[in-house]
Amino acid sequence: MDAPSGAGLEPRDIIHLGDGEVLMLDQTQLPGEVVHRRCVHWEDVVDAIRTMVVRGAPAIGIAGAMGVALAAQHGDHDDPAAHLAEIRRAAAVIRDARPTAVNLMWAVDRQLRIAADHPGPPEALTAALRLFALHLHRDEVLRCRAIGAHGRTIIHRGARILTHCNAGALATGGYGTALGVIRAAHAQDPTVRVVVDETRPLLQGARLTAWELDRDGIPFTLIADNMAAALMAEGRVTHVVVGADRVAANGDVVNKIGTYGLAVLAREHGIPVIVAAPTTTVDLSTPAGADVPVEERHADEVRGVGLFGRPAAAHDAPVANPAFDRTPARLVAAIVTERGVHRPPYDRTLAAAVAAAGTGE
Ligand code: MRU
Repeated sequence: MDAPSGAGLEPRDIIHLGDGEVLMLDQTQLPGEVVHRRCVHWEDVVDAIRTMVVRGAPAIGIAGAMGVALAAQHGDHDDPAAHLAEIRRAAAVIRDARPTAVNLMWAVDRQLRIAADHPGPPEALTAALRLFALHLHRDEVLRCRAIGAHGRTIIHRGARILTHCNAGALATGGYGTALGVIRAAHAQDPTVRVVVDETRPLLQGARLTAWELDRDGIPFTLIADNMAAALMAEGRVTHVVVGADRVAANGDVVNKIGTYGLAVLAREHGIPVIVAAPTTTVDLSTPAGADVPVEERHADEVRGVGLFGRPAAAHDAPVANPAFDRTPARLVAAIVTERGVHRPPYDRTLAAAVAAAGTGE
């Protein structure tokens, strides 16, 4: 699996479960510095997820699974009951580190199921949890590669693709979902160009997506979020391709704040919105987008971007900071998973994809 997976990175450069530690590329420091955060205890993994050292739906799922594996490794191997109790305690906290991306809960629940089903001694359980975490990382990267291969079939020559946030190698453990489609489309047609939304308030587009595309030599133009409408009106955007934090059973898409606005704009301008996400992001137990909890983050994230050496807003300016929004399925032209390109009615096509992938069991 250690082939370059986008941005010249190997999957293990992005996140790696070592012996008694998890190493993560610290996404809060990009693009200025390429440094790693070392997580020794499962609590360090929780902190890394909360503070977005690691972020993006599949990546926090992988981190969560590795966190559970760490808890097992450092638990009391002389006392099977205490060992299991510690794994369950860690899993409960890791699962709650962020509320919106379903991959985190999915991965932790898988680990809990392994723990529940495992009759062996702590050493064997620890090995099984470690193996799942490693396999999950490998599988998410393979899913991204398949998403790219399917997604490029619906991108026409000379496309001008607008993407939002970062759904790249950093967000998935390697290659990316939306950026997977873009990487694959650009590989087959070097005239493909990308428009990158900066993605306020945390600038994942400007900091991370632009960094990934630059390292891959894929031409892009960075814009402030409020410029998308004007570019669409001028015919400078042919597709919107984004990732997802959770896709509900009816095809509603919960993704980075701003996605819904882009989808409304795209409808007005006759531009297709394509959502790229693995089946591990599809949550058939959640009927609609309205049922997905949206994380509210700290007000300082909105107040904080400074200009001319000064903070942008008063330190006590009242703020709303929902990190995600809900795009109704009717605004989504296609959802691309590792199983193919899915069209409405999404309740049927997504259920079939999840069943075929075996990720819903
Ligand atoms: O708050 P973030 O940066 O974790 O949000 C990430 C996104 O919204 C991504 O678009 C989504 O997770 C897809 S990542 C393949």
